[in-house]
Amino acid sequence: MARKTGNTMGYKTSYAKMNKHPLNVAIIGMGGFAGAHHRAVFELEKKNILKLCCTCDIDLKFFKAFMHELKMEERNVKVFNNYISMLDSFSEKLDFAIIPTPIHLHAEMHKECVKRGIAVYLEKPPTLDYFELLDMIKTDLSAKKETNVGFNFIIQQLRQKIKKRILTGEFGKIQKITFLGMWPRPVSYFRRSSWAGRLILDDKLVLDSCFGNAISHYVHNILFWAGKDGVFSWDIVESAKAEIYRANNIQGTDTVFVLASTRNVPEIRIAMTHACFEKTPDIEKIYCEKATIFFEANAKKDEKTTQAKCEIFWKNGKIETLTQPNGNLLLENLVHYAKYVSGQKKRPLTRLTDAEPFVMLNGLIYIGAKKIKKIPQKNKEIAYDREGETYIVIRRIRKIAENFIENGLFPSQQNVRWAREGGTANRNDIGKLRQAVRTMIKEITQ
Ligand SMILES: NC(=O)c1ccc[n+]([C@@H]2O[C@H](COP(=O)([O-])OP(=O)(O)OC[C@H]3O[C@@H](n4cnc5c(N)ncnc54)[C@H](O)[C@@H]3O)[C@@H](O)[C@H]2O)c1
Repeated sequence: MARKTGNTMGYKTSYAKMNKHPLNVAIIGMGGFAGAHHRAVFELEKKNILKLCCTCDIDLKFFKAFMHELKMEERNVKVFNNYISMLDSFSEKLDFAIIPTPIHLHAEMHKECVKRGIAVYLEKPPTLDYFELLDMIKTDLSAKKETNVGFNFIIQQLRQKIKKRILTGEFGKIQKITFLGMWPRPVSYFRRSSWAGRLILDDKLVLDSCFGNAISHYVHNILFWAGKDGVFSWDIVESAKAEIYRANNIQGTDTVFVLASTRNVPEIRIAMTHACFEKTPDIEKIYCEKATIFFEANAKKDEKTTQAKCEIFWKNGKIETLTQPNGNLLLENLVHYAKYVSGQKKRPLTRLTDAEPFVMLNGLIYIGAKKIKKIPQKNKEIAYDREGETYIVIRRIRKIAENFIENGLFPSQQNVRWAREGGTANRNDIGKLRQAVRTMIKEITQ
């Protein structure tokens, strides 16, 4: 029977209009972020919104306790060690499949689902290989329902409200957007999977990095602010100047400085690193003609909860502060997709084609930078957290990154000894991506 729930997820959620529920779903994978999907789906199963029919992993031996904890046998979840066999057995039954697996496997898994008429909730980033994304967009044209890419924050109502206000012209033109993302990641993070920190694996572009993976949400958010073709629009990226660095012992980059321009915004400054010990607040700063908007998607509300917080500093001195509590964003994103699949929502929050600007920008930073400069040992230090995890930290990284964000000075313009001047690429250069990455790999092996 149709029913309503209260405000358990930070906003009123009505399932009354869902044509069919629960919707039958599959999750490919069990470890890493797939674990968070399993927990979210279990919660939604208790509310009769989703039903997990089947799941799989290539390494089932590691997940016995997990399957027990999530009562998979009692819930009659069929478990496979091969996702193709799983899709073949359940294609008739599934309403959608969730793909939270390594980035370089997304395209193939997406294709196998679409071929079988199964809708897809695909974890972000869809892929970091620009030309593979174009193929995925083509594949999706034959999908019964469009794929959703799981960027977490587009769902925030406060974000959508502010975007609407930007579009009315209330704040004037956007002149600049900046973002500083310092997300410490221990050495074990890069050792957890064979693809972590890689540029290429099995001849596939992976391009795993702070920019392309963990903190990518914020790059996608910035391009969302810049888009002018309606609320759900992401602006076309024109060019990017970049310097990229490696402090950890990885193939790829863990520290990125980017100065980009899009069709509507002349200056976007982004600095991101995993080679740090201190997490800074994630604030998207949008500088407009009449006001500056600080948007913090995950601001601390109290010990247990977070909220979206938006401060608007008007040039006339007025300050507006707006907040909205965050619920479980992953769960809300899954509910939104369930509603889309069942005909209650018009569109997924981020379609594959909406991720084009992000994937383009990610590609251009490699082509522009040309080289991933290794940080010398003497400019790094080691830190340990309470759990005994080890972190490789670039000395003075916060100061250097803040200087870039505030003054637009790349490390190579700040008299930083380890810095190397980067370069610029524009969107017509994207065809050079694979060659640029191959050159970077050659340099590591020389
Ligand atoms: N939205 C978010 O906030 C968020 C957070 C973290 C990760 N992610 C995304 O989730 C995805 C997975 O990242 P991760 O760090 O959890 O990866 P991971 O490598 O830690 O875990 C992936 C899981 O998939 C399984 N797997 C690999 N190949 C498989 C196959 N062929 N068939 C079935 N299972 C297979 C692995 O055994 C593992 O259990 C990435 O796209 C990542 O960017 C999103």
